[in-house]
Amino acid sequence: IGKEIIYFETIDSTNDYAKKIAKKSSEGTIVISEEQTKGKGRMGRFWHSSKKDGIYMSIILKPDILPNDAPIITQIAGLSVVKALNKLNVDAKIKWPNDILINNKKVCGILTEMSIEIDRIDYIVLGIGINVKTLDFSEDIKNIATSILKEGYNLNRLDIITLVLDEFENLYLDYINTKNKQIIANMCKEYSALIGKDIYVIQFNDRKRAKCIDINKEGNLIVQYEDGSIKELISGEVSIRGE
Ligand code: BTN
Repeated sequence: IGKEIIYFETIDSTNDYAKKIAKKSSEGTIVISEEQTKGKGRMGRFWHSSKKDGIYMSIILKPDILPNDAPIITQIAGLSVVKALNKLNVDAKIKWPNDILINNKKVCGILTEMSIEIDRIDYIVLGIGINVKTLDFSEDIKNIATSILKEGYNLNRLDIITLVLDEFENLYLDYINTKNKQIIANMCKEYSALIGKDIYVIQFNDRKRAKCIDINKEGNLIVQYEDGSIKELISGEVSIRGE
């Protein structure tokens, strides 16, 4: 990971660039930029990417795994960020499936894009955005977003990048070699911001009250609704109640 690093002062989106070069690039190539003019978030959202405020990077991966197992790679990325931040004494947690929170506010998002050719993975572009020094967020995300500096930690971007990539390389290679999902799931549980919490499950413009009880081997979230029924969420959005 990171044998080849492509650096930009400015770019539209590191994910979009990485997708353009993915086919001819080797596994582990990193695209990183000081700013993004069209930073992309999940579900077509915008990702605030001002100059030197954050870390905006994408990793090109070519794992020999089934497309159905690709979400694990996103979880590994989330774990790398949270483990790196914990090593730097930042109390960060994972909000399933892959947002990183400090004090229940989002500090990092991950956008995984994948190209599949006849049920095998051609490549994965793993985009990681971390708010490091941002102090002013736009009105719409002000209450839910934060930065590492805003939460009182003055860290240097390079230290974070180095640790995140170190953690990522270890976890990724371990997973590729062993295909052991249980280890990943256990770590996701250990760093989870949701286990034992009252949450809302947001689906089809509706939100249902539930309690988060577990993360299973497949990395799915196990929730219990107020009528007592227990469900397994494969993907989707949840929010912590009372936030
Ligand atoms: C989310 O919505 O939580 C995901 C945000 C992902 C942002 C990162 S920044 C680097 C990479 N390039 C992009 O355009 N988006 C991702």
